[in-house]
Amino acid sequence: MRIGIVGLRMGLHLGEWCRRLGMDVATACDRDAQALAAAAQGLPSAALTTDWRDLLDQDLDGVVLANDFDAHAPLAVEFLDRGVHVLSESAACTSTEEAKALVAAAERTSATYSFAENYVLHPHIRLLHDTVRSGHLGRVSLIEADYLHAMSPDDVAALIGDPAHWRGRIAPTAYCTHTLSPVLALTDAWPVEVTAFRADDEDPRAAVVMVVRLSTGALAITRHGFLQGEPDSHWSWMSVRGTLALAESVRARGDRAWSVRVRREAWASPDAATHDAELVPPRLRVDGVEIERRAEGTVRLLQGFRATVEDGAPPLVPVRPAVAASLVGVAGAESLASGSGPVPVPDFSGQPQ
Ligand SMILES: NC(=O)c1ccc[n+]([C@@H]2O[C@H](COP(=O)([O-])OP(=O)(O)OC[C@H]3O[C@@H](n4cnc5c(N)ncnc54)[C@H](O)[C@@H]3O)[C@@H](O)[C@H]2O)c1
Repeated sequence: MRIGIVGLRMGLHLGEWCRRLGMDVATACDRDAQALAAAAQGLPSAALTTDWRDLLDQDLDGVVLANDFDAHAPLAVEFLDRGVHVLSESAACTSTEEAKALVAAAERTSATYSFAENYVLHPHIRLLHDTVRSGHLGRVSLIEADYLHAMSPDDVAALIGDPAHWRGRIAPTAYCTHTLSPVLALTDAWPVEVTAFRADDEDPRAAVVMVVRLSTGALAITRHGFLQGEPDSHWSWMSVRGTLALAESVRARGDRAWSVRVRREAWASPDAATHDAELVPPRLRVDGVEIERRAEGTVRLLQGFRATVEDGAPPLVPVRPAVAASLVGVAGAESLASGSGPVPVPDFSGQPQ
């Protein structure tokens, strides 16, 4: 499978994993000389270029879009229109217009669109997913998800302080895809309405809390940005309360952070006993080698993309949930601007209304 990569920071990391998993990274692009130099080391057989348009006519099977967070949709549309399968990093789109264009392109092409959501595929999220699917929790009522970085103020300023960089110019609600995508995957729901709050008015860009009504009637509360106290599960924590039981990833240091606690009260248990257990997700191995926990999502993501291209498997996270998750961040920004009023999220479910 011949692939190209646009954007060679996160893209280089993905490209190195693609090579390790047996894909041919034929070409790679970055407009930054330093990034290209690093790629020359990490991806020695890739033809390097500074112009992503050079990739359009390279007879690629797939392209990985890891360029600026807020610039993916136009490139995705161009590659899809050439019949090239797309794996796009978060975010999928930055407006309803981009979302419409992207969905239309994904639905008219012979290729496929996959959202590069490793957070849906992290070990604790997969275990939560299986627990919800088993019916053990009953109907999901309340779901909480964090994507938080416990960084020092200096490190935060270095990361998001430059308004010319995408990390500095995006709204503080925008990077909600790593919470919303798991929420949508676990609940099979669509976001209906969002109300966003700054965590701290004294530091308005640092962190936000979003309250999202879902189409199933459940409520999601998501927190993202920079707050202290994250567990060691790649900045991700999640809790699911059902009508019968709770399941949540363990707030702990080290490996236990990937585990999931399931609590069911005596009244809800067939044996009339209280159950409180900690489940450890199975390990992922590739060619007999155990994969580091935090890389499991990336490996599954790339394996899934390959299966989409080579075997016609459905995308793990297809275009509609991708734009739905991204538009929560757009509507959340509107909510913040209106003083935390509720804002409807455009319906991209594709279902008749
Ligand atoms: N899923 C994850 O765990 C994860 C982790 C990190 C980053 N990301 C995502 O990956 C994307 C990139 O993030 P990053 O941290 O690598 O950002 P970055 O700004 O550090 O790197 C982006 C690179 O893309 C290049 N680039 C941007 N636009 C380009 C264009 N039009 N043509 C050629 N090169 C271009 C830049 O020069 C830069 O080298 C973002 O969408 C981010 O959200 C995802």
